[in-house]
Amino acid sequence: MKFKSVNPTTTEAWKKLKAHFAEIKDVHMMDFFDQEPDRNEQYKIKWDEIQFDYSKNRINRKTLELLNELANEVGLKQAIQLQLEGYNINLTEDRAVLHTALRDFDQMKPEVKKSLQKMKVFSNSVIKGKWKGFSNKAITDVVNIGIGGSDLGPKMVVNALQYYSNHLKVHYVSNVDGDHVAEILKSLNRETTLFVIVSKTFTTQETLANATTIKNWFLKDASQLDIEKHFVAVSSNIENAVNYGITEENIFPMWDWVGGRFSLWSSVGLSICCAVGYSNFEDLLKGAHEMDLHFKDEEFTNNIPVLMGLISIWYNNFYNCETEAVIPYNQYLEKFVPYLQQAVMESNGKEIDRNGIPVNYQTGAIVWGNVGTNSQHAFFQLLHQGTKTIPIDFIGFKEPLHGNQYQHKLLMANFYGQSESLLKGTYQQNISNIYRTFKGNKPSNSLLINQLTPKNLGSLIALYEHKLFVQGVIWNIFSYDQWGVELGKKIANKILNS
Ligand code: F6P
Repeated sequence: MKFKSVNPTTTEAWKKLKAHFAEIKDVHMMDFFDQEPDRNEQYKIKWDEIQFDYSKNRINRKTLELLNELANEVGLKQAIQLQLEGYNINLTEDRAVLHTALRDFDQMKPEVKKSLQKMKVFSNSVIKGKWKGFSNKAITDVVNIGIGGSDLGPKMVVNALQYYSNHLKVHYVSNVDGDHVAEILKSLNRETTLFVIVSKTFTTQETLANATTIKNWFLKDASQLDIEKHFVAVSSNIENAVNYGITEENIFPMWDWVGGRFSLWSSVGLSICCAVGYSNFEDLLKGAHEMDLHFKDEEFTNNIPVLMGLISIWYNNFYNCETEAVIPYNQYLEKFVPYLQQAVMESNGKEIDRNGIPVNYQTGAIVWGNVGTNSQHAFFQLLHQGTKTIPIDFIGFKEPLHGNQYQHKLLMANFYGQSESLLKGTYQQNISNIYRTFKGNKPSNSLLINQLTPKNLGSLIALYEHKLFVQGVIWNIFSYDQWGVELGKKIANKILNS
C-alpha cells in the first residue's frame, strides 16, 4: 500500500468543488434549511454518547459528495489504514505514528502493557500513601515538569477530569520563566512532593532548566540519596535521564513512534493517573480507542472526524477562512483549546508538501477559542457582526456533573442559542436600525455529549487527533514532524552559548 502524494488542487474533485463553490458561495444557510426541511436530522450523526450536528454549515448534499470524492481521490482510506497499521508514514523522521496503539487493549504491544502496569502500580502506591517521601510521609503534591506535548495534554485532561480527582494536588511547570517555577514551589513541601520530569527527548531546554532549579531547591533540605523518593522521569532517552540522576526503576518509557503532542495516552499521562486514579485513565484510553474504530471502519459519509476535517477544508481552502474557533460550554474544558492549538497547529502548519514541493494552497487553520459563556462576553461580537467568517465548533454536555440542573439549563440555552443566532441572524426580519441587523450565515458544528466522563473525553480528544490527520492527508503534508520548532530550539541554544 502506498501513502499517496497528490496535490489536492490538481484533482478532479477540487476542480468540481471550485465550480460548486462559485455556485453556492453566497447562499444563506437559511435557504438550505428551506430547501431541505429535514436538514436538522439529516446532517446529524449519533455515535456512542456523542451527537455531531453539522447542519449549520454552508454546505449542501453536493458539497458533501464532492468533498467525499476529494477524500477518495487523495487516498484517505489507505492513509488511515497505513497510519493505524504502523507504517512509517512520518517519512521526514522515518517513524511510525502509533499513538492509537497505546489505547488498543485487544492488540496491545507487550511493552505498552508493561508500561501501563508500571503506571498503575506506581500511581496506586502514591494515591494510597504507600509511596513515602524522605521523612517517611505520604505524598500530597505531584509536579509535572515538561513542556509542549509533555505538559499540555496531561494538564488539559487533569483539569477536565477534576470531578474525578482524589486528594493529590497536581501542578504543572512548563515555562522556562523562573517566576513560574518559583510561584509553584512557594506552596510546596519538599517532604511530601513528588516531581515527574516529562521529556521524550530529555534534551528540552525549558524542562531541564526547570528540573534543575527544582532539584536544587529540593536539595536545600534533603540529600542526594533522597532524590529517588521524590523524582521520577518519563522519557524515551533513558541514558540522559539516568545521567541526570534519575534512578532507572523510576523511569517510565516512551517510544519514538509516539509524537509528543499525541503522548498523553502513554506514560506521559502519569500525572493523570495520579490525579484521577488508574481506572479512570484506562477509561480515557478506551474512549479514545472506540473513536479510533469509528474512524477506521465507518463510511466517510458517516464518519465524524472525516466530516469535520473535510468541512474545515471547505472553509479554509474555498472560503479562505484563516481561523476556526472551538468553544466548549464547560468550564472543565478550559484548557482544551491550548491543547488543541499544539496538536493542530504544530501538525498542520506546513508549507512543503509530501513530494518536497512548496504548496500553492493554504494549509493548517489557526485554532483559537475559549469556554462559553465567558467567550460570549469577550469576542463573540466579532463572530456575530465582524467582517470575517470564523467557523466554530460548539461542544456541550447533556448532563452536568454536580447536578445543578438550573444552571446547566442556563448554560445549554446559551450553547443552543449562540449557534442559532449565528445561523439566522436577523434573516428576513425587517429591522429599521442597521446597527441591530445581523447577517447570520455564520457556520458552526455542534458536538453534544452525554456527560463529561473519562471515556467521553478520550473519544473527544481522539476525534480531534483524527480530524487533523484527515486534513494533513488532503493537504498532502507531513502532519507528524515539527522541524520549524526544532530550528527555533537550536537558535535559542546558539544565542545562549554565544
Ligand atoms: O514544541 C516542540 C516539541 O518538540 C514538541 O513536539 C514536544 O511536545 C515538546 O517539544 C517537548 O519535547 P520533549 O518531550 O522532548 O521535552
